[in-house]
Amino acid sequence: MSTLDAKTRGRTSPGRLRALDAYLCRFEPGLLTRTDGPWAHGVFVDVGFGEHPWTTLESAEAFRSLHPELSVVGVELDAARAQAAHVHAGPRTHFRQGGFELPLTADEPARLVRAMNVLRQGPVERVPEVHHTLGRFLLPSGLLVEGSADPEGAVLTAHLLRRPADSADLPPTREALLFHTTFRHGFAPWQFRDWLPRDLRRRVRPGEPMHAFFESWNQVWQHARDTGYTLPADAFRESVTRLATRVSGVVVDSWLLDSGYLVWRPDGGVPP
Ligand SMILES: C[S@@+](CC[C@H](N)C(=O)[O-])C[C@H]1O[C@@H](n2cnc3c(N)ncnc32)[C@H](O)[C@@H]1O
Repeated sequence: MSTLDAKTRGRTSPGRLRALDAYLCRFEPGLLTRTDGPWAHGVFVDVGFGEHPWTTLESAEAFRSLHPELSVVGVELDAARAQAAHVHAGPRTHFRQGGFELPLTADEPARLVRAMNVLRQGPVERVPEVHHTLGRFLLPSGLLVEGSADPEGAVLTAHLLRRPADSADLPPTREALLFHTTFRHGFAPWQFRDWLPRDLRRRVRPGEPMHAFFESWNQVWQHARDTGYTLPADAFRESVTRLATRVSGVVVDSWLLDSGYLVWRPDGGVPP
């Protein structure tokens, strides 16, 4: 265990990260399917899969619908959980005990590293170091996804961090923030606050960019409701469309809007 690793509970549930799988299949097919040069061996790494590797297996199935030969490595700090998952291993599906430094070999570069609901312990100031460490095996332009979701995956947010394509030695940069709701609990922008990635949760204070973002979203959402968009999905769609006219970097795409996703990709990256 490195000094960045800390034991946490292993709670997970089937389907919790399905929305993330769907987003990645739709918007990152190149990342999932590339096979040129080192990408031929590029693996998907799921870090901290929990007491049962449901989410790893579900993502493997989703991503293999695009790339049947994809290799998948589930990583778990807890040795008993890692051992128990072995029953689900296959020729291209591996489960290993390990931490943020990742138990990969030199011929297993990562195209995608995901760490969902894992950063709960340890000082929040060390999150950039955790991102840096998780990104060490990423191929140039590879993606690190780190965030949180409620227990059923009804509300989810994640940092999308990209390793620069041309400067392989640089750490991944905070390219975008992804929000998703299934509308199971209705919808209001502030619902996402408790499920923000760990480092952003305490940044939602007056004067901070995340607070300004939520204030703007809340205003346009209230206005949408006041002007007849009463159903949660309608109010969401309308609020994001209006938000995009106020906040730069809010992506307007009909699939995203119709499916409960907001992607915020501000110039210069997601503010700390
Ligand atoms: C709450 S579960 C999340 C499971 C799953 N990722 C999900 O989103 O449902 C968190 C798991 O991450 C593991 N974990 C915590 N820190 C870790 C680390 N540094 N490296 C690998 N796994 C870690 C814990 O042992 C725990 O089983």
